[in-house]
Amino acid sequence: MLNIQDVRKTFFAGTVNERVALNGVSLTVKPGDFVTVIGSNGAGKSTLLNTVSGTIIPDSGRIMVGDRDVTRLPEHRKATWISRVFQDPMKGSSPTLSIEQNMAIAQRRGRSRGLARGVTRARRHEFEQELKTLELGLEHRLGAKVGLLSGGQRQALSLLMATFSAPEILLLDEHTAALDPQRAQHVTEITERIVNERHLTTLMVTHNMDQALRLGNRLIMMHEGRILFELDAQQKAEATVADLLAEFRKLQAATGEPALDDATLLETARSAEPAGAPSRGAPAHGAPTGGSSAPGVSPEGH
Ligand SMILES: Nc1ncnc2c1ncn2[C@@H]1O[C@H](COP(=O)(O)OP(=O)(O)OP(=O)(O)O)[C@@H](O)[C@H]1O
Ligand SMILES: [Mg+2]
Repeated sequence: MLNIQDVRKTFFAGTVNERVALNGVSLTVKPGDFVTVIGSNGAGKSTLLNTVSGTIIPDSGRIMVGDRDVTRLPEHRKATWISRVFQDPMKGSSPTLSIEQNMAIAQRRGRSRGLARGVTRARRHEFEQELKTLELGLEHRLGAKVGLLSGGQRQALSLLMATFSAPEILLLDEHTAALDPQRAQHVTEITERIVNERHLTTLMVTHNMDQALRLGNRLIMMHEGRILFELDAQQKAEATVADLLAEFRKLQAATGEPALDDATLLETARSAEPAGAPSRGAPAHGAPTGGSSAPGVSPEGH
C-alpha cells in the first residue's frame, strides 16, 4: 500500500543551519496497518508525514502508494486519497462556516468545484448520524459556526471530516497533544474506533507512549532522521511503557544526547496518573524523575 524507500530530506543544506530531518527512511505499510510513531523532538516524525502528504518533497528516495510513484506529487494532488489531522485544532476546519458546511466540503474533498455550501436533507441526516458517533452532541448543532466549538469538539470533527471520504492513508500528527487529558482521551477513543471500523491505513505520531503501545498494530521509533526500531503487533502487545523508556535511555547512552524530550516525559507523567487525577501535578509513579538515565521534568512550567 504505502512504500517509503530510503527517503532523505535536509533543510538548509550547505548552510550553518543545515538540518538532516530524514536520513534514509524506509517503511512498508500494508493496507489496514495502523502504525504509531514515537521519537524525540526533531526526530523527523512530522517531516516523514509531510513527505507522505506532499507538503515536503524529499531530496531523494521514493514514495509509492500502491503502484503509483507519488514522491514528487504536491499536496493538493494527493488530497483525495491522503487525509491528515494536525496538532492544532484550528487547522482542520473553517471557523466561519457551519458544522454542516464544513462536512459538506470534506465530503467533496478533491472532487469539489467551488464550495459545496448547499446541504440536502439526505446529506444532513447522514451528517447527523456521523456526528452522533462522536458522542459530543454536535448532531444537534449542524448550523453552528465551527469557530464556536471547543478544541476537543473541533478536533473530533476534524477527525471525522478527515476520514469521511475513505482516504487510502490517514496521517495523524500529535492530533490529541493540544487537548486536556480528558478530551485527548476521548479523541483517542474516537480515533481508535474510526480507524478500526473503516480499516484505515494510518500513521499516527504521538509523544504518549502508553497510547503508542495501546493503539495500532505496529510501532516505530525514530531518532535523528532514522527509524531505529520497530515493534510488530505481538511485540507491541508484550511491550510496556518501561520498555520504551529503556530504549530511549539506550539511545541516550549511545549518543550522549538526551533522547527523552520534555514532550515525551510530560506525556509519560500524564498517562501514569490515575484516571481523574488533576492533569498537572508532580510526575507520577513510573515517570522518570531524573537521575543519570533520564532528565527529570516537572510538568509545571510547560
Ligand atoms: N520546514 C522546515 N524548515 C526547516 N527545518 C525544518 C522544517 N521542518 C522540520 N525541520 C527540521 O527538521 C528536523 C526534524 O523536524 P520534525 O518536525 O520532523 O521533527 P519531529 O520528530 O516532528 O519533532 P516534534 O516531536 O518536536 O514534533 C528538526 O531539526 C527541524 O528543526
Ligand atoms: Mg512533529
